[in-house]
Amino acid sequence: MRQHSDKLAHSIGIGETSVAEIAIGKYIKNNYGIALAEHQQATLVCAIKKICNKFNYPDASALYLDMVDNVVTTQVMELLIDEITVGETYFFRDSKQMALLRNKLLPELIQNKQQQQNKTLRIWSAGCSSGDELYSVAIILRELIADISEWNIHLVGTDINLVLIQQALAGKYSHHALRKVDNTIASRYFSRSGDSYQLTSEIMQMAKFSYLNLIDDYYPSFINEINNIDLILCRNVFIYFSEPTIRDVLNKITQCLTESGVLMLGASDYWGENISGLEKLVADDVCYFQRGVLTLNDIIEAINPDKKKYTANTTHSVTGNRLNAEGEQEIISEVTNEDAQIKLDKSDKLIQVFEQQHSKDSINAIVEASQQLATAGKVDEAIASCKKALEIDEMDINCNYLYGQLLAEKNLTEEAVSVFKKIVYLAPKMPEAHYYLGVLSFRNGNKDRAIKHMMNTVTLAKQKASDAQVLNESNMTYSRLAEIVEHEITIYSEIR
Ligand SMILES: C[S@@+](CC[C@H](N)C(=O)[O-])C[C@H]1O[C@@H](n2cnc3c(N)ncnc32)[C@H](O)[C@@H]1O
Repeated sequence: MRQHSDKLAHSIGIGETSVAEIAIGKYIKNNYGIALAEHQQATLVCAIKKICNKFNYPDASALYLDMVDNVVTTQVMELLIDEITVGETYFFRDSKQMALLRNKLLPELIQNKQQQQNKTLRIWSAGCSSGDELYSVAIILRELIADISEWNIHLVGTDINLVLIQQALAGKYSHHALRKVDNTIASRYFSRSGDSYQLTSEIMQMAKFSYLNLIDDYYPSFINEINNIDLILCRNVFIYFSEPTIRDVLNKITQCLTESGVLMLGASDYWGENISGLEKLVADDVCYFQRGVLTLNDIIEAINPDKKKYTANTTHSVTGNRLNAEGEQEIISEVTNEDAQIKLDKSDKLIQVFEQQHSKDSINAIVEASQQLATAGKVDEAIASCKKALEIDEMDINCNYLYGQLLAEKNLTEEAVSVFKKIVYLAPKMPEAHYYLGVLSFRNGNKDRAIKHMMNTVTLAKQKASDAQVLNESNMTYSRLAEIVEHEITIYSEIR
């Protein structure tokens, strides 16, 4: 155990165990976003005692000092978080909500997508615990969609608790977790092995799981695929959060929803207030929230919350000579007209104009407009415009990177891999490209290669200025990326 300064020891009151425990509670709240209520203090005290015994800390004060000195190991913190976040969950939890999903919300979503000839579904279980909730949705989709192999289905589960994510990835459940699963479904999608039940690979392959702290991390985000979500389930997670935190999390979650996207909270999470930007709806006694029509500013805010307005000065300063000032003004002023609810087809117009100028500025402008299209779910259009920009300069790193991200999002794994390999060739020290190669290798079943790429990502991200921003991820710093990827390495290392 390391030596700590007397001053710091005095400041938290060594020997006054309760003070140290309160301080640990505050540290966990500030760093992990988990706010324990009064009645949960006993759980915290108990968890601290367990950790102290296991890792030979003489008392809570010593543990706290390691935390503030930033020398506490990830293993200690993970186990502490594991002890205090009770991931209670089970398949088809809350039968009324599940019935509404199966009978109304998912069939409507599927039908709308079919009408739009866009067979893509994006569903996020935020605070997914051991995956039971997300896999329940996967099973419902498997039952509802006859031609499911023709669909591009993204089911993403995220949690702060790495042990629970590993359980989700293992897909092994107790009889207790299946208590609300009807027999036909159980025999179709689970196989019994001893006392446990193994989910079929058909369902497991539909879902991805990763680490995300709802409090700390920036989302919407391309890098963790949390963007343009059609349905978000964030049920029974808010019990850990204070009211201002809930408000903040709800605001960020709302930004992740696509136009008409639906948010479902846990039945007891509902706290009687309206959620800004969402319409509250009730069907069959179940409350859910729906996002309305998106304006261009909603989309820009989702890409970069600091950049509220799309203006000529702040967004595109076009220097090319093929576009005269009058033409440029016309387009920009159209786009800035917020009252007219101008939407994304304006991005298409901008792309057409910029395409005519074969300059670096025009590529940057096309990339930014493509990103707006992508953020609004127009992935095919965004891919097409990236291709056009690459015709102007096939070596442009930003354009290749966005192009690779979009291909990865469309599950065009081989094409995406070759784009990221090209980026690594052009810019060997770019952590983001190594990260994607890691994710894609894991997707291809090559765990060892995935871990190697992830480790490169951490090394390279740590070489960057810690507060520098990850490309296309406003607010995500390289130091946070390094931490997240370290979590992913822990998850990947122990699984499959
Ligand atoms: C009670 S479980 C709910 C699981 C599932 N949504 C359900 O309703 O069955 C709550 C989950 O929220 C997770 N959680 C708590 N704080 C979190 C945070 N700040 N970010 C992400 N997940 C968090 C916990 O680890 C736990 O797995």
